[in-house]
Amino acid sequence: MARHLITSALPYINGIKHLGNMVGSMLPADVYARFLRQTGRETLYICATDEHGTPAELAAKEAGLPVAEFCAQQHDLQKAVYDGFGLNFDYFGRSSSPENREITQHFARQLQKNGFIEERSIRQVYSLADGRFLPDRYIVGTCPHCGYDKARGDQCENCTRVLDPTDLIDARSAISGSSDLEVRETKHLFLLQSKLQGEVEAWIDEHGKDWPVLASSIARKWLTEGLNDRAITRDLDWGVPVPADTWPELAAEGKVFYVWFDAPVEYIGATKEWADQDPENRDWKSWWYDATDVRYTEFMAKDNVPFHTVMFPATELGTREPWKKVDYVKAFNWLTYYGGKFSTSQKRGVFTDAALELLPADYWRYFLMANAPESDDTSFTWELFASTVNKDLADVLGNFVNRVLSFSRKRFGDAVPAGNEAGAAEAALGQEVARLLAEYEEHMECLQFRKAAQALRALWSAGNSYLETKAPWLEIKSDPDAAALTLRTAMNLIHLYAVVSEPFVPASAAAMRSAFALPADERTWITQDEARSLSLVPAGTPFTVPPVLFAKISDEDLASYKERFGGAEEA
Ligand code: 2FM
Ligand code: ZN
Repeated sequence: MARHLITSALPYINGIKHLGNMVGSMLPADVYARFLRQTGRETLYICATDEHGTPAELAAKEAGLPVAEFCAQQHDLQKAVYDGFGLNFDYFGRSSSPENREITQHFARQLQKNGFIEERSIRQVYSLADGRFLPDRYIVGTCPHCGYDKARGDQCENCTRVLDPTDLIDARSAISGSSDLEVRETKHLFLLQSKLQGEVEAWIDEHGKDWPVLASSIARKWLTEGLNDRAITRDLDWGVPVPADTWPELAAEGKVFYVWFDAPVEYIGATKEWADQDPENRDWKSWWYDATDVRYTEFMAKDNVPFHTVMFPATELGTREPWKKVDYVKAFNWLTYYGGKFSTSQKRGVFTDAALELLPADYWRYFLMANAPESDDTSFTWELFASTVNKDLADVLGNFVNRVLSFSRKRFGDAVPAGNEAGAAEAALGQEVARLLAEYEEHMECLQFRKAAQALRALWSAGNSYLETKAPWLEIKSDPDAAALTLRTAMNLIHLYAVVSEPFVPASAAAMRSAFALPADERTWITQDEARSLSLVPAGTPFTVPPVLFAKISDEDLASYKERFGGAEEA
């Protein structure tokens, strides 16, 4: 059986992420990893903060901290939020780790050895006032095509034309505003991607067949446009240094690798960080090098697809070493905020730390996954959020659990009642539950999260229908043994929900699970037979009634959220 390696796009270090970032990478990866672990597959889920690059340097500067210190702090802040969201990484690393430096430098040396790196002189803008070379996007000026006066050196946001910084009229530094700029000649390393185009194409022909259309179409588009050679070094203080043994001159000048060169390597680097914590028992290389028994799934939003499907595979191929390449790319469209962009820089939308201050993680996890932007962009609105929470979580799941347990305790005491043998209604329910469970599993296997959430909801719903039909509050009057059977069956459903809902709502699942004092309850999943027979919680099992699982969002809550975060009117 394959071992499963899972990575989600590494969140940038320069600030807390919003819900759009969460649903497009880490959360679905966690849901999938939990499902795989629960269903008995060996699974390694790796993520890390992406710490290098100009945005990190500038954010540190703004915070008035040395960049290393800034990154260490931000890493801890982000990690705390992800813990709060119940993200169960096997390891959450840092791209600034010594492990990543070592492996990134190794990749570069291999590429050099195989003739895929070339030193080239380029002319680059140097800001005298800032005492540094400016990356293209940190030069602003007037667009020569449309006259927009805040065009960036790489692209004009207004007319979307791709630009070269030297095209800009009245160019100035975006950092200091100074126009004391000059063009200087400087040497950089270029990755000769053009030489790898054919190989990447062949690799995608072979391995990209089963990817979702979103991922494969973006990859194809990039290949059709042709792979350009890319500068993979920068003149920055913060980054993986160019190794002096291979490029003494560039190393002496203090060049570092471009953040997009070392970031995907950190998937490997973080796996080594994980192994270095327990070297006796963990073997990072077996997951990445010649790892023919590993199935590797990557999660990311659509803007990250080109790097993961084309550029990083090209880099891996160019090493001429058997590094594990992605098997399945799960890409997501955008989650919008009332149809507009969530924006980190403009602080628009809901950020993950604020979300957790408002409500527990499970509310967000379920909502986001049930509405994941899989086939199209999805719009976050507070109205949709409130109605999903109120209907699916509070009414369908939470209410069922509390109603059944409270009523049974009131009538039969603190243990699961015995009552009649299961009859035709229970047999029919078992069939239905087994069918829905199989459907749920199938969607999870195919990483179809919206459909999986629907199947899960249908499972919860089946319990409600059964309860409405049997009406134990009426049965109890004429036939207590019949009512006892209904309640026992419903309690078995609660236990089943506890087990199979865990990927989506882990904290609530744990609360449901601990309601029953089952001896040695180590079951991680439910088989078809177990689903059909609904008898894992036998009569006589002591139980407690957990606190209300999901509170409803009231109209007042809704109004206050909209007021605080802004609603449609700002979109
Ligand atoms: O787009 C982003 O947020 C990047 N930090 C993703 C990097 S993914 C990987 F390559 F590291
Ligand atoms: Zn323009």
